[in-house]
Amino acid sequence: MKNTERIPVQTNGNNLQNYEETYASFDWKQVEQEFSWYKTGKVNAAYEAIDRHVEQGKGEKTALIYSAPDREETYTFRQLKEKSNQFAHLLKRIGIHKGDRVFIFMPRTPDLYVSFLGTIKIGAIVGPLFEAFMEAAVRDRLENSEAVALVTTPTLLERVPVDDLPHLKHIILVGAKGELTDGYYSFEKELAKSPTELEPVWVDREDPMLIHYTSGSTGKPKGVVHAHNAMIQHYQTGKWVLDLQEGDIYWCTVDPGWVTGTSYGIFAPWLNGVTNVVRGGRFSPDDWYQTLEKYKVTVWYSAPTAFRMLMAAGEDLVKKYDISSVRHVLSVGEPLNPEVVRWGLQVYGKRIHDNWWMTETGGILISNYPQMEIKPGSMGKPFPGIYAAILDDQGNELPPYEMGNLAIKTPWPSIMRKIWKNPEKYQEYFRIPGWYVSGDSAYKDEDGYFWFQGRLDDVINTSGERVGPFEVESKLVEHPAVAEAGVIGKPDPLRGEIIKAFISLRAGYKPSEELKEEIRQFVKTRLAAHAAPREIEFKDKLPKTRSGKIMRRVLKAWELDLPVGDLSTMED
Ligand code: WT7
Repeated sequence: MKNTERIPVQTNGNNLQNYEETYASFDWKQVEQEFSWYKTGKVNAAYEAIDRHVEQGKGEKTALIYSAPDREETYTFRQLKEKSNQFAHLLKRIGIHKGDRVFIFMPRTPDLYVSFLGTIKIGAIVGPLFEAFMEAAVRDRLENSEAVALVTTPTLLERVPVDDLPHLKHIILVGAKGELTDGYYSFEKELAKSPTELEPVWVDREDPMLIHYTSGSTGKPKGVVHAHNAMIQHYQTGKWVLDLQEGDIYWCTVDPGWVTGTSYGIFAPWLNGVTNVVRGGRFSPDDWYQTLEKYKVTVWYSAPTAFRMLMAAGEDLVKKYDISSVRHVLSVGEPLNPEVVRWGLQVYGKRIHDNWWMTETGGILISNYPQMEIKPGSMGKPFPGIYAAILDDQGNELPPYEMGNLAIKTPWPSIMRKIWKNPEKYQEYFRIPGWYVSGDSAYKDEDGYFWFQGRLDDVINTSGERVGPFEVESKLVEHPAVAEAGVIGKPDPLRGEIIKAFISLRAGYKPSEELKEEIRQFVKTRLAAHAAPREIEFKDKLPKTRSGKIMRRVLKAWELDLPVGDLSTMED
């Protein structure tokens, strides 16, 4: 079990020089005191991310470089401040108040970022939705959050069941043509008539600012709520994990529909006053390397599935581009295979720094730091100010190399503040007093490095995206041919896991490849492409408990040829 492979430190002059010393002496208060609101207690995270730099004389620095196949734009901090102020004025005009939920369902364009910042500026709660969501996914989230306003495009609006959402009063359309009816507003026209100056709404540190929906093993997606105070963690992890420095060109490849795309695609770079690259469009190895080359990216944050696909695209492709500007590479979202780390070192000449966190944790908690040896396959060590441990189910800390619950001592600045309208779910994370229980299993080695082992529940991680099996099963049984469905994650070399569905058919339906494809399309077009099962297997009967619950554990054991374990609760 002992791992002896080490990758030595590569660079000097990093922000975090001595991990051990810093870890021993660090206190979050030191970071809080860097901000003026420490004295007043009143804060606004969007002001801190953008406006503060303008006031400090950095208004003409490039904040955002946007690059898409059909559009390329740059924005300075001053321009972003002004545009987000204009958007904030629009929200004020239509009567949006502090605490209201404003959702954004948009492709990755500058307007998305402007809307995001403007919403936070007036103290409203922003909810970014991934553009690939189909109607059911959009409906669930808008319904649960009781969103009053939505920013979207005419194309994506087709997937919003506006008439079924009584709370949704205002639709702001980006790129609308012609006259709009009541309750609909043109983003461009409304911004054009709004002032560029605004007094942000100053809120308490604990006031909510952001909701991200994420999946569990049961029930619908849950709304994880983050507070303005999270900025403390975004700022400091940006310094010590991303190693952000004044001249950096930073690129986080993740969409703001997912938490990495907000904590590290918006807050961390801008709180640190760094130029942020946003790329629209789909993944393509050529375009990605071109992006690194063209904008001279220095810090690059992505995900294992992307690195694996780049690896599959081969070494020759890398040689076609000059990516020598890249200084620091990071990865999150799923296990980073040691093989990928070795490949990165060989082909990019760079270490890929794995780090661990979750939607619920709001920011990075465990990481590999530039000034630390990497043990390929390990997620690294806890961030200063974070105490991580491996606990048994009773809450006892386990010794090195024993596998158990990966848990974090509460609290930390970016910890979720609630699950929207679901206090019971929230409490489940804190069932061991004094700890946040992650749902991941891991072990710690004798040097304090943490090693991920797996999920303790049925949550599926496919290409770094978290999918709840229950959501997929619910959608599957809506198909007229499907009687029952059980969904599991099946290991896959490229995607980490793929979704596999076991299905029993209703009377009168016969298994066929065409039916599989039809069912797959059904989930794809009604829920989301990434939630559609890549594999479907028809079964006469699914394994169930006596109370009728489908036993995913048994399905998984069948699939992977593992012992099925205790079957005492299974029906005959
Ligand atoms: C789950 C959280 C916050 C980043 C995006 C994912 C898995 C995350 C790692 C890692 C192995 C990882 C865990 C975690 N995960 N990072 N470095 N190594 N697994 O956020 O969608 O909330 O998913 O992703 O299972 O619990 P998320």
